[in-house]
Amino acid sequence: MSDDASADQPGPRHAAIIMDGNGRWAKSRGRPRSFGHKRGVETVRRTVEDAGDLGVRYLTLFSFSTENWSRPADEVGALFELLKHYVEADLEGLARRGVRIRIIGRRDNLGPDLIAIIDRAEARTRENAEFHLTIAFNYGGRDELLRASQSVARAAADGTLNPDTLDEAGLAGHLDTAELPDVDLMIRTSGEQRISNFLLWQAAYAELVFLDVLWPDFDRQDLARAIDTYRQRSRRYGGVDAGAA
Ligand code: IPE
Ligand code: IPE
Ligand code: MG
Repeated sequence: MSDDASADQPGPRHAAIIMDGNGRWAKSRGRPRSFGHKRGVETVRRTVEDAGDLGVRYLTLFSFSTENWSRPADEVGALFELLKHYVEADLEGLARRGVRIRIIGRRDNLGPDLIAIIDRAEARTRENAEFHLTIAFNYGGRDELLRASQSVARAAADGTLNPDTLDEAGLAGHLDTAELPDVDLMIRTSGEQRISNFLLWQAAYAELVFLDVLWPDFDRQDLARAIDTYRQRSRRYGGVDAGAA
């Protein structure tokens, strides 16, 4: 297929998506916001397949932020129910297809039923390595850095970590994403052009692609185009282009 990644093309290895625009999608149809979120789950299902087909190995999806608690309680409740339903309904199929599932974010204010579902999904797929699906739920980049700092401070206090020899890789090991590579491509749908507290550390050198499509309408062609855009960018990491020196 012409829009598929051929084996000799470079990355992105890790794509992260800020799935935005469910509310506006529903509103334009005169439906409640939760209807948009429900359709958004269908887009998640398609995107997991499409990303794998297009050569992405790591896909991280922003599904509920630490700031989303400020939404009306019924919308928050609907988002929690959708996550539970998605993981329970799709776990077995994803597991059999070699997908490793991780859920990142703060856990201490989630209910025991949700934590049990998360633990089961992660345990069931622990041996998988074909494709890495990470769902950021109750996640905020600053919250993650705060929890990592607490973890580092605790290790220093109990004598298992020397602050003077801690380096970037050492600190990254305390993040929720300790086992994941850096983000290569960060996509945001809905036309907004901001990061909204997503993967602040991990996306330090990510290429950013902002799309005007609302998340429920995001399709394989949008993903393929974002990947093409990524491939046309020159990633310099603070250096100069090869041959330009
Ligand atoms: C989905 O889109 C993102 C989530 C926080 C679940 P929104 O619910 O933010 O939709 P808009 O931005 O209001 O259109
Ligand atoms: C970011 O979208 C969070 C998720 C996609 C889960 P928001 O809709 O919450 O972001 P803001 O409020 O427009 O920055
Ligand atoms: Mg939004």
